[in-house]
Parts: sequence; structure tokens; C-alpha cells
Amino acid sequence: MIENLTVHLKGISKRFGKKQALEKVDFELKKGEIHAIVGENGAGKTTLVNCLFGMIQPDEGEITINGIRYDKLSPRLAVEAGVGMVHQHFKLIPEFTVAENVFLGQEIIKNGIVQEKLQNRRIEELSKRYGLEVDPLTPIYGMSVGMRQRVEILRALSKDIRVLVLDEPTAVLTPNEVDQLFEVLRKLVADGLSIIFISHHLHEIMRIADRITVLRSGKKHVTELTTGLSELEIARLIIGRDQSQVLKHSEADPGDVVLRVEDVLITDSRGAQTVKGVSFNVREGEVVGLAGVAGNGQSELAEAIIGMRKVDAGRICYLGQDITNISVSQLREKEIGVIPEDRLQRGVNPYMTIAQNIYTGSMNDESYGRIFLKLDKIEQHAMDLVKEYDIRGVDDGTFVGELSGGNIQKVVLARELSSQPKLVIASEPSRGLDIGATEFVHKQLLELRNNRSAVFLLSTELEEVLSLSDRILIIHGGRIMSEFDRHSIPDEAVLSAFMLGVENKS
Ligand SMILES: Nc1ncnc2c1ncn2[C@@H]1O[C@H](COP(=O)(O)OP(=O)(O)OP(=O)(O)O)[C@@H](O)[C@H]1O
Ligand SMILES: [Mg+2]
Repeated sequence: MIENLTVHLKGISKRFGKKQALEKVDFELKKGEIHAIVGENGAGKTTLVNCLFGMIQPDEGEITINGIRYDKLSPRLAVEAGVGMVHQHFKLIPEFTVAENVFLGQEIIKNGIVQEKLQNRRIEELSKRYGLEVDPLTPIYGMSVGMRQRVEILRALSKDIRVLVLDEPTAVLTPNEVDQLFEVLRKLVADGLSIIFISHHLHEIMRIADRITVLRSGKKHVTELTTGLSELEIARLIIGRDQSQVLKHSEADPGDVVLRVEDVLITDSRGAQTVKGVSFNVREGEVVGLAGVAGNGQSELAEAIIGMRKVDAGRICYLGQDITNISVSQLREKEIGVIPEDRLQRGVNPYMTIAQNIYTGSMNDESYGRIFLKLDKIEQHAMDLVKEYDIRGVDDGTFVGELSGGNIQKVVLARELSSQPKLVIASEPSRGLDIGATEFVHKQLLELRNNRSAVFLLSTELEEVLSLSDRILIIHGGRIMSEFDRHSIPDEAVLSAFMLGVENKS
């Protein structure tokens, strides 16, 4: 039995200040298995794998990798022990090329010279072997998240590893990209690697994992074989109760146009046209969903609407005012709630507290004071939102960067949605959220729509678009190819075909 284990964690505990993030957690990874770690936002998943990767020193417990016990691990030692990691939040340097990132800090050097050709060849070999197509010479900026993730995986694989840890790798991927990733994982397992896989998507876990370990509030709840478990049973194991009912979606009653986008053209930093003349509008009291495979222009379009990217031609209007190419700070003065796709870089400041982060969403609200801020009031408001949005892991003065991934997302949602904005631009609003939190944010968006807000939803999760939208637009190759209203929405398979570029002639 013991020889069959690649990783054995025994009695791992970790405390951050007053927070007990992990409490005597046991975990075993067998050779050649894919083992999923699941649990609610803040349950301790990332902390546990960070202990295994030497990013964090546990307060107590034993770590054994391939039969060797490590008293003190560092990432370097972990790599030497054969552990590779793809982090929940990517750590790539945007200005560097793929090759520079993959070999950062571990360049192949001969006679004091970095062997670029050798490095590129190594990347090409790995890409080919595992079907992770990337060009070693392309810089990271401008790359889709799916591509960035390939680079992260290549970086892990460029060392001689036996265990690959992936912390929510699919949160940022489209269904198609998830299929590709799973192909890669299967090849890795066939090559004798063992994999730890963290995800909130139960259907993925059912598909790929041999066993699951469920964490609840820092404790191990159970480890079970996946075969024989239904999605519902896994959900029950995670949240300790049954999931609540499906969303009720009443008939929309759209009013005036709030957001109007006219013939917008966008060219990216490399000169490629990513949005090729897009027009649509979103009215008050409706949710318009933009669905598409990632990389078809939706991110650029969203960025243009929220003032983060220039458009080359066309117009964007908010309540009849032209807001084309306005700055982010000008946009902040309008009643627009923005959930950006890339929240760690653009959504929050990790070095500020929750109250400070939430206040930056209402700096024009004079009820918080003009010159002398009413700090108590700001703090109280933040604490109310922490409760309402169930943001977990919060003590006095907790920095947002100390929260778990999903809880950071909740801070953004609380800041952007709680002020009853007239327009909401929501990109991937449930990314990284656990089942309960996803349900909550969906309810929140529908409530805003019922209270006459206009909601523009951009999501690569078809299920999310289907359950929330009153109208659906399909974007492909930078153009809106089809539009459906609630009553004419075809089934998922047909919609997926449209997302791949089939035109709707009706
Ligand atoms: N560096 C840190 N400082 C303080 N607290 C931390 C730190 N890292 C994690 N925590 C806390 O430890 C707990 C577990 O966090 P962790 O990131 O492991 O959760 P998770 O299960 O990965 O959640 P998610 O699904 O949201 O990513 C949380 O309460 C979190 O706030
Ligand atoms: Mg996490």
C-alpha cells in the first residue's frame, strides 16, 4: 500500500493569525490516479496544495513524497521531489515570451549563455507530446487565458515531475479547452504521473477524477471513489445539505435602452482586428447574454465598454451619452457596475482591506464624507456586505489578498452590485465560485434586472448564459452571428454549434 503512494500528507494544520485554515488534514495520492480536492470557497484547498508545494510551511504534520519525508519544503525542494504546480492565479510575466516564462529561473545555460534554441526545442517537444500547442517566441500579453494556462502547464512539465497539481485549472477554460486539458491529463497519467485536481465544477470531477477528497472548513470530511457517486451526492458532501432549487426566471419587461453599442471595431496590440463591427443594445429590465468560445472578441468588447481598451471605430452609449473611449475613472462616476474578467489585476487591490476595496466603488458617494471620511460608516457598510455576500475568512483588517480565490470574487461582486447600478457589465461572474456562491450571484443579477437594471452578461459557461439571459447573442470571430430571445433559444448542442461559427439564418 505504502509503495503505491506518491504523496502522503498526514495531520497537516495551518493557521493564519486567528484563522485555522487547515486542521489535521490527511491526504493520500496514489500513483497514476487523478485525485480531486473539492470544497466551498475558503475550505482550505489552495492552502493544502501550497503546503505540498512548499509555498507555505504547515504548523504541524508530515509530508512524504515518493517515500521521502520532508521536514521543511520549499518550492525548489518540491520540484526536486517531483512536484509541479499550476497555481490558481497565474504567475506568468506578461512582457516575457512563452520560452522565457517556461524557463524563468531555470534557464538552460552553457558557458554562461542561455541556450535559447535548446529551450525552444524542449518546449516544442513537450507541446507536441501532450498536444499543448504554443509558439515559444510569442509574448504572454495578449494571449487568451486558455493559452496562458498551457504555458503554466508547460512550465511545470519542463521539470522532471511525477506529481502535477492543478488549482482550479478549468475555471478559466471553455468547454472545448476543458476537453483538451483532460486529454493532456490522461496522457500524463498514462505516462505514470499522478494528478491533484481542484475544481468547483462537479461534472468535470465526475469525468476526470478517480477519487475525491472533500474539505469542509479546513478539515478533511471524506475521501471517496468517484465512481458510484452522483453529482448531487458530491454536492451534498461539499455543502452538507441539498442544493436549493433552480432559479425562477420571470418574463422580462424591457424598457429604455441603457447600453447601445454601434458598429464597434477593435484592433489589438498586435494589429489584429478582434471585434469586427459589433452592434447591439441592452435595455433596462433585461439580461442580455453574450456567449461564445473564448478568444472570439468578447473580452476586448467588454474591455472597450468599461473604458479599458480603445475602439477604432463605432460608438458606445450609456443612457444616450456617448461613452466611447472614456477613461476608467470617468466611467466610475456613472452608475455602472463592472465585474471584470481578470479580477486579481483589475478587480481588487489585494493590499487593501475589504472596506477600502469596497469604498473605492463609492468614492463619489458623499454620504461617506467629502474631505473627512466617515470611516465607521465605511467599515459598517463593508461588514454588512461581508455578511450579505457570505465573504468568508474575514477578521478585522483582513487584506483582500489574504482571502481565498472565490472570496476575493465575492468582494468584487459586493462592491459592484450592492449599489443598484443602472447597468451591469458582468464578465464571467461565477468564475471560481463554489456552488452556493454561484447560486447567490445568479439570484443577485436577476434581482437587479427585476429592479430595472440592464445586465450585460459575458460568459463562456453556456449553462450560465442559458439560465440568466432574456436574450442571447452569439459572438464568433469578432462578429455577432446570431441572436435569440428567451422563447427561441435552441438547446445546448445547437447553441454550441453556433458558438463554433455556424450562422443562424432564421
Ligand atoms: N496568506 C494568507 N493570510 C491569511 N489568511 C489566509 C491566507 N491564505 C489563505 N488564508 C485563509 O485560509 C482559508 C483557506 O483559504 P484557501 O485559499 O485555502 O481556500 P480555497 O479552498 O482554496 O478556496 P477557493 O475555492 O475560494 O479558492 C481562508 O479563510 C483564507 O482566507
Ligand atoms: Mg483556492
